[in-house]
Amino acid sequence: MLELADVHAGYGKTTVLRGVSLAVGAGEIVTIIGSNGAGKSTILRTVSGLVPARRGQIRFKGKPLGAKASAVVRAGISQVPEGRRLFADMTVHENLLLGAYTCAKAELPARLAQVYDVFPKLRERSTQAAGSLSGGEQQMVAIGRGLIARPSLLMLDEPSMGLAPKMVMQVAEIIKSIRELGISILLVEQNARIALELADRAFVLQTGTIVKEGPAAALRDDPFIRRAYLGL
Ligand SMILES: Nc1ncnc2c1ncn2[C@@H]1O[C@H](COP(=O)(O)OP(=O)(O)O)[C@@H](O)[C@H]1O
Ligand SMILES: [Mg+2]
Repeated sequence: MLELADVHAGYGKTTVLRGVSLAVGAGEIVTIIGSNGAGKSTILRTVSGLVPARRGQIRFKGKPLGAKASAVVRAGISQVPEGRRLFADMTVHENLLLGAYTCAKAELPARLAQVYDVFPKLRERSTQAAGSLSGGEQQMVAIGRGLIARPSLLMLDEPSMGLAPKMVMQVAEIIKSIRELGISILLVEQNARIALELADRAFVLQTGTIVKEGPAAALRDDPFIRRAYLGL
């Protein structure tokens, strides 16, 4: 479904991604784990068209992916950014609609209803300011804002960040239920434990290079991963 081949990218004179190759198949949950600064967010931003790829190829559903952010959304890829990036003073409803900028106006009620079916709690809170919600509920809004565009691939950037353990488990359940909707997931996490529990396959990123890849279950038992990323 999504395929990166030898992708190089960075900011100004700084090169961050040094030849990243990875793939996400239809219906899969694939995770990229790596420590802070490894380049995980940069991979997602490069796919989203927010950071230009300097070398290499990004293909989606067999076609080269457009470099413009709106074209990427139209092609069927939504990104849920790190740190949620909600507008605290706007309502839940208004925040969700921000994800629907590529949709026809007539479709918006049905799109919203579908997101509220996934997150019934948000329906109750739809007229509340997003900033007044709990951390977990805010993460639901951020995910809902990605889902409203009806992506076939949802990219999640550290959805567990800053959440209490109980909420982390709830977000994990949400991610599983999104996959049940037939949406493929590319999950970026510093929390390797939760990522490797959820994912089918995993890639390990170190300083902009993939150093390991394989079935998540195999990486959970890998001595290097256990020591470096699971603290075991
Ligand atoms: N907007 C930016 N301008 C310059 N450097 C950046 C920018 N964003 C990230 N970087 C640098 O790129 C590297 C990778 O960052 P990032 O992709 O955010 O890593 P991760 O998500 O794995 O923590 C870091 O060294 C970071 O300082
Ligand atoms: Mg990041």
